[in-house]
Amino acid sequence: MKASLKPRLLLTGASGFLGHNIIQQAQQHYQIIGIVHKHTVNLSGLQLVQMDITDHIALRNIVREVQADAIIHTAAIGDINRCEQFPAETEILNVSTSIYLAKLAAEMQIPYVFTSTDLVFDGEKGGYHETDAVNPINHYGEQKVKAEEGIRIAYPRAAICRMPLMFGAGGAGSKNFFLPLLQKIRANDEIGLFTDEYRSALGAISAAKGLLKAVSAFNGTYHLGGPDKTNRYTLGKLMAQAAGITQPNIKAIQQADVPMPAPRPKDVTLDSSKAIAAGFVPMQNQAEIELILRSGM
Ligand SMILES: NC(=O)c1ccc[n+]([C@@H]2O[C@H](COP(=O)([O-])OP(=O)(O)OC[C@H]3O[C@@H](n4cnc5c(N)ncnc54)[C@H](OP(=O)(O)O)[C@@H]3O)[C@@H](O)[C@H]2O)c1
Repeated sequence: MKASLKPRLLLTGASGFLGHNIIQQAQQHYQIIGIVHKHTVNLSGLQLVQMDITDHIALRNIVREVQADAIIHTAAIGDINRCEQFPAETEILNVSTSIYLAKLAAEMQIPYVFTSTDLVFDGEKGGYHETDAVNPINHYGEQKVKAEEGIRIAYPRAAICRMPLMFGAGGAGSKNFFLPLLQKIRANDEIGLFTDEYRSALGAISAAKGLLKAVSAFNGTYHLGGPDKTNRYTLGKLMAQAAGITQPNIKAIQQADVPMPAPRPKDVTLDSSKAIAAGFVPMQNQAEIELILRSGM
């Protein structure tokens, strides 16, 4: 499968939200081999492999066949409520496969970037550093902690990137809240958004660039948070402003108003100075929202 002179990037989750943004940012510099599962990607120059990566024998064969120079692993079941209701089923992809891919990358001695989450923390403190103790309060966060622990053993050089709440355009398999929310704002539908869940939200363009920086410059654990301490209500207001809607029908609600299977931490804001010192450049939320809308959304 080796033909192009560009370095070869194996990207899991190529049809997902983050995968879509990584492809946009990486395609100029890398020959991308994207793994998809139930959805596809229509883009010339991209090599696609359609498979279930929880089939570890098939995964090993593909990884060896494509001879990648680096792996970014974004495939996951990121639906927090689904992880809470089906922990055993979701753990196979979120934990075992993430660790298995680290072992394959270690065998080949190539960079491996794993996408973890701010939800490894309990949210009681906020402003978390990489050295703070993890204490997840839902199964999704627990699964990411288990994956991180297994990856550190399998491949100490791996880059473990803890991602915050992200927003932006996505691929066919993306379940990101941004586009549906934008459509509701534009339609002036009444929307309730949480004020009591603080995150270091980050636009997906900044996130993708940060993960590509991780390929070449990160070893160990890093926080890739945005510069603003925010919540979904504030993000909704920024989106309305960028869309030119002066009086959006957005109501402030609390987590307790919407019973959900998985509990959510109060404040999982991240201190990202370690990643910033290593070359990560997070854009302000307002600037990135305006950029996304200008690009035609
Ligand atoms: N989005 C956020 O705000 C956020 C926040 C913190 C951390 N993260 C982490 O960032 C990463 C990317 O998240 P995302 O929002 O981009 O996820 P996403 O949009 O839900 O995409 C998930 C991807 O995983 C693929 N996938 C699922 N099951 C698979 C399987 N069995 N075999 C092969 N591929 C499979 C999907 O493929 P198909 O669609 O083709 O089936 C899809 O491409 C994940 O590790 C997530 O935990 C995300």
